[in-house]
Amino acid sequence: MAAVNNLTVEVRPGEVLGIGGPNGAGKTTLFDVISGLTVADAGEILLDGQNILGARPEHICHLGLARTFQLNAGFDSMTARQNVLIGAYFGFRNRIFPGLRFGREDVARADEALEIVGMRHKANEIVKDMPVLDRKLLMIAGAIASSPKILLMDEPVGGLNPHEIDEVLVLLRKLCDMGITIVLIEHVMRFLMQLATRVMIMHHGEMIYEGLPAGLVRDKNVVDVYLGEGTSARLEKFLVKGDA
Ligand SMILES: Nc1ncnc2c1ncn2[C@@H]1O[C@H](COP(=O)(O)OP(=O)(O)OP(=O)(O)O)[C@@H](O)[C@H]1O
Ligand SMILES: [Mg+2]
Repeated sequence: MAAVNNLTVEVRPGEVLGIGGPNGAGKTTLFDVISGLTVADAGEILLDGQNILGARPEHICHLGLARTFQLNAGFDSMTARQNVLIGAYFGFRNRIFPGLRFGREDVARADEALEIVGMRHKANEIVKDMPVLDRKLLMIAGAIASSPKILLMDEPVGGLNPHEIDEVLVLLRKLCDMGITIVLIEHVMRFLMQLATRVMIMHHGEMIYEGLPAGLVRDKNVVDVYLGEGTSARLEKFLVKGDA
């Protein structure tokens, strides 16, 4: 059985596409395919009209598509700035002879990314002992440091408390205002609904819903396989007035 099958979705500049669906639905696999970590057997992935299926992940990143991961990824023994520098250095353009000689430009881009996520004052701290929120913010900073046009985020608020979730919400709105197009996977539905301009729900590798967040809570299929009646009713209050 294919983890992702028969799925077509388009993201336009300036949009926030939110992706939901049960565990094992194929959401992360979809990101792996788009970002080049897993090559699909069939289909097309068009970035600005260019088919990037089969392209190397770093090439896709240089074309302006960055991503973050469901589990915190980072270099534990290094500082926050060094972690983000990796994104600034390798993610920005092709390095024919990668020698890790960071230039002033790379450092400036890394510091700017740290500033954007509110982590500049922790630039020299070692990552290992940082709390989950900081590590999530760092991963976002590393992605931003590659100057993406489009940013894929896999569960950016998984494991965070409600106050922290709101902080990330504000940050992601800022990224939108900076002109970055966002695609995010999230199980925290109120977060998804507050941020997304459009929502897609996956189940068994296929799309079972695509449309406005407002329609989601009333879609019988989505309520049956994913939300359940209780969650669906609770989410109604996050709908923007007039959406109904
Ligand atoms: N490397 C792999 N090899 C084989 N099967 C895999 C691999 N990675 C994931 N799968 C399977 O593919 C399906 C989709 O997994 P995926 O991680 O994409 O789900 P998901 O929607 O991201 O779930 P979650 O919400 O739990 O993160 C699952 O059945 C999973 O067990
Ligand atoms: Mg996943």
